[in-house]
Amino acid sequence: MQTDLRGRDLISTQDWSKEEIETLLDVAWDLKRRRALGEPHVLLRDKVLALLFFFTSTRTRISFEAGMAQLGGHAQFIDSTTTQISHGDTAKEIGEIVGRYTDGIAIRQCDWGIGNAYINAVAEASRVPVLNMQCEVYHPFQILADLMTIQEKFGRDLRGKTINISWAYASSYQKPISVPQSLVLLMSRFGMNVRLTRPPEYQLMPDIIEQAKENTAKHGGSFEILDDFEAGFTGADILYPKSWGSWLTTEDDEESAEIGAKYQDWITDDRRMALANDDAIYMHCLPADRNIEVTDSVIDGPQSVVYDEAENRLHVQKAAMALTMR
Ligand code: CP
Repeated sequence: MQTDLRGRDLISTQDWSKEEIETLLDVAWDLKRRRALGEPHVLLRDKVLALLFFFTSTRTRISFEAGMAQLGGHAQFIDSTTTQISHGDTAKEIGEIVGRYTDGIAIRQCDWGIGNAYINAVAEASRVPVLNMQCEVYHPFQILADLMTIQEKFGRDLRGKTINISWAYASSYQKPISVPQSLVLLMSRFGMNVRLTRPPEYQLMPDIIEQAKENTAKHGGSFEILDDFEAGFTGADILYPKSWGSWLTTEDDEESAEIGAKYQDWITDDRRMALANDDAIYMHCLPADRNIEVTDSVIDGPQSVVYDEAENRLHVQKAAMALTMR
């Protein structure tokens, strides 16, 4: 167990060693148990976390705010459009100044080619930890909650389990690729058989794929890329089909919608679920496009763990805050 995480940023799980991630999960389980028992766990009394959002959120905002309150501190919700960022405050100024007022800065900035650089620039200027609430490259807290959920269902040793991280059709908007990218990066460090299934136009960043392959070589398991939706389900233990944008093919929304329309049959339904192992679980970070991306019968069905997954956002984030902001 690593105990010296005070002051550390969490922008990508790749920045933390496997042992540090396991420490975070141990603390998350302890905090989940304490909350279930009604035991107070005021670990961040009088501490303040700034939550800076450039993009909408339900789960991330509510779980970070609730988590800081449960730890005895305060979370400030800040919408970027109501700050002087819209009139020129730079990332350096935000890091310097907000870091002097608060004990941590959490940021969601998903703009393509901008978000990750912005979060890193704030972190460089900040004297307090910076937590990535999602950028266009990574969504670390979602994936830590996903790993916690998978371990709750299958045990801590995930070697030999197959996870199918699949693209799915959605009509709502061109979603970031940060969830599948963070999934391939983290799951490939736990000895799993990582399967990425996507149409050819929905590639992930080549550097992320290389890192996932390196993780697999170091930690065991396998890594494969498929382009057949149903083949992705076959024999899998963990099914994680979700939509993402064709960002590496085109940044144009109209062109992206035209590409996506070719794959409208990439919907998770009961027939596809039956191709997976009998005890397979269905996961989704939410929000999902119901009956477009996944049928109600699957997302509300017995194999779905989406609510446990959403709950675990709270526990992993509290663990990260308690470890880095104490
Ligand atoms: N999964 C997730 O990050 O949800 P929100 O966009 O609602 O925060």
